[in-house]
Amino acid sequence: MTLERTLRSSEEAALLDLAGRRLPGGVLGNARYPDELAFVVKSAQGVRVRDWSGREYIDYLLGSGPMFLGHAHPAVTRAVMEQLTHGTTYFHLSEPAIQLADEICRAVPCAEQVRFTSTGSEATFFALRAARAFRQRDKIMKFEGGYHGSHDYALMSSTPKSPKAFPAAMPDSAGIPHVLEGEVLIAPYNDLATVEGLLAVHADSLAAVIVEPLQRVIPPREGFLGGLRRLTQRYGIPLIFDEVVTGFRFAYGGAQEYYGVTPDLAAFGKIIGGGFPLAAVAGRADIMKAFDPRVQGSGPFVSQVGTLNGNPVAAAAGLATLAVLRQPGVYERVRAVGGALMSGLADLVKRLGIVAQVVGHPTCFDIFFTDVPLVDYRATLTNDAARLRRFNDACLKNGILKGATKIYISCAHTEADIAQTLAIFEQALVEAGS
Ligand SMILES: Cc1ncc(COP(=O)(O)O)c(C=O)c1O
Repeated sequence: MTLERTLRSSEEAALLDLAGRRLPGGVLGNARYPDELAFVVKSAQGVRVRDWSGREYIDYLLGSGPMFLGHAHPAVTRAVMEQLTHGTTYFHLSEPAIQLADEICRAVPCAEQVRFTSTGSEATFFALRAARAFRQRDKIMKFEGGYHGSHDYALMSSTPKSPKAFPAAMPDSAGIPHVLEGEVLIAPYNDLATVEGLLAVHADSLAAVIVEPLQRVIPPREGFLGGLRRLTQRYGIPLIFDEVVTGFRFAYGGAQEYYGVTPDLAAFGKIIGGGFPLAAVAGRADIMKAFDPRVQGSGPFVSQVGTLNGNPVAAAAGLATLAVLRQPGVYERVRAVGGALMSGLADLVKRLGIVAQVVGHPTCFDIFFTDVPLVDYRATLTNDAARLRRFNDACLKNGILKGATKIYISCAHTEADIAQTLAIFEQALVEAGS
């Protein structure tokens, strides 16, 4: 583990230069490190990522969540190698895709049937489309600060700088047709009374309510998810859990098992693809029926096709991942390791007298530089974002890779990794200043 940053190699400098010319912003998405910290991954094994300059990082980004077993897990690699020899994609049924659908239905309380997609964004997009077809209504309700991917209906009021009065939606991206703002109603997370009031007025125009059971890293208040379940049931509105992050992470049956609340539909991604592009909509058979090509012409039919949907290599990787997760004690252990990092970071904050808090679930959490209780998106706006950026940059400089607003824990992290990380967190908290 290299704590001192070595000089950037000429190979890495050349790659970064090429990336800067060929990729907008020199990056693959919205995240961009300061130029002096930019790097290119060369390989990853377990929880260690290495770059083209030979630097090593302890990984808490984990591919933005899919690598719950750590990188290059031998069981997953074996399953993928085996499938590769039989071909990589068919655009047709394959044994791994069928078995993965079955395993999801065995594991997840709401899942009677599964439709595969390639990304989590597509999974929430098609879950919403299926709900619209089923309920014969157009509008959806989502929660302020909730993220459901990058499609036009999802990128509404996920990160509004100055939020409007509920339920008005604000697009998070240029290029989204303004007409769609009227199709999405925004509610405050963890505020059941306001949701109830909004539903009393708008229920009849709603096709679905979609929620991240743990919104980003904000936990649901006691009774919030159960209350949403009761209210949506009262009005006959399908409730969709976005389990792209929480699925097979919080428990084998996802957040719906963990919190004991069963939605009508759920979107999965990340872990179920074992590090390959695979995601899914799962849920009640009577709603999923809209995807059945046999209903075309006789009932609401949802067209949903994707060249790589249910890709056999991805399905084999997902199945191998789930087999490891079924081993006894896996979830208890990962929660204990993550819990130790969470409480260790909270202790550091206290000891250093810093105004900050650690919020989330033991496998998915982060630090916020504010003392305002983090119950919803508006509370997160009190976070000292510049200080969090300085903390993240100091972590990276010292060999810790984390997301801009998330620390993911994997089953491969050890107590030794946690101890090493806490030493670096302490240094980064000091470097981030006040
Ligand atoms: C809760 C949630 N839903 C949906 C998505 C979108 O998934 P993808 O990036 O695979 O499109 C993400 C991605 O991080 C997510 O966190």
